[in-house]
Amino acid sequence: MLRLYAFIASASGVLAAPSPAGFELHAYYTNYPGLGAPAINASGGSFWIHKPTQSYCPDSVANITTCPLGNGTSFVAGGQAGTLFMNTEVPGGQQVYVAPNGLLKYTVPHSGNIPEGSLTTGLIVNATTAQLNRYYTFWMCNLPEDSNVWQVWLQYEDEKGSIRIGGQGDKNACTRFVLISEPVQGIGAWEYL
Ligand SMILES: *[C@@H]1O[C@H](CO)[C@@H](O)[C@H](O)[C@H]1NC(C)=O
Ligand SMILES: *[C@@H]1O[C@H](CO)[C@@H](O)[C@H](O)[C@H]1NC(C)=O
Ligand SMILES: *[C@@H]1O[C@H](CO)[C@@H](O)[C@H](O)[C@H]1NC(C)=O
Ligand SMILES: *[C@@H]1O[C@H](CO)[C@@H](O)[C@H](O)[C@H]1NC(C)=O
Repeated sequence: MLRLYAFIASASGVLAAPSPAGFELHAYYTNYPGLGAPAINASGGSFWIHKPTQSYCPDSVANITTCPLGNGTSFVAGGQAGTLFMNTEVPGGQQVYVAPNGLLKYTVPHSGNIPEGSLTTGLIVNATTAQLNRYYTFWMCNLPEDSNVWQVWLQYEDEKGSIRIGGQGDKNACTRFVLISEPVQGIGAWEYL
């Protein structure tokens, strides 16, 4: 079972009503110089900085209606127990979760599959501060093969009570940051790949 710093937050948090309003999540307060506050991008089931959004709209949809632009990555609040979903139209939706190794992920289209031991709650934006759960500790870790590309992780506590950052290795760097929501118009993508 994944133990994040912040169970208290999801247990005591007041849950906002479901809202169809989409928002991006921007990376703030990193120690990484010159980064700015970019939106995190969905690609390959996890979230990135300096990697393009990967989305798709099938011909069967494109032939009968207009596909969303699909160039940005946006989210919608799930409403229920602080769940978070991708801002998509694909039937069944795409849910955001924290995998047992702390990687922030989203479900593949047409599958609700979330690995056992993952966490799906507490992924809630504070209406006043616009911050995604300030009791969760987010890290971005770059790739050993490309130090400019960063992936989004959450810190967790292992069985022995030690703090772990799943993306941290011998050959890369990690830096803490927070996620701040910014509203967007319309649907983000038909589906994210
Ligand atoms: C996110 O993806 C978009 C669209 O692919 C791209 O233009 C943008 O540069 C990416 N953002 C970052 C921070 O990599
Ligand atoms: C979509 O339209 C194109 C062009 O008319 C057609 O070739 C294709 O078979 C259509 N695809 C689907 C899935 O309906
Ligand atoms: C997506 O493309 C539209 C149209 O070119 C542009 O206005 C918008 O800023 C882009 N969004 C992102 C997140 O890149
Ligand atoms: C939102 O943040 C404010 C300011 O930090 C805090 O006072 C408030 O309790 C938070 N709301 C929730 C629902 O956590």
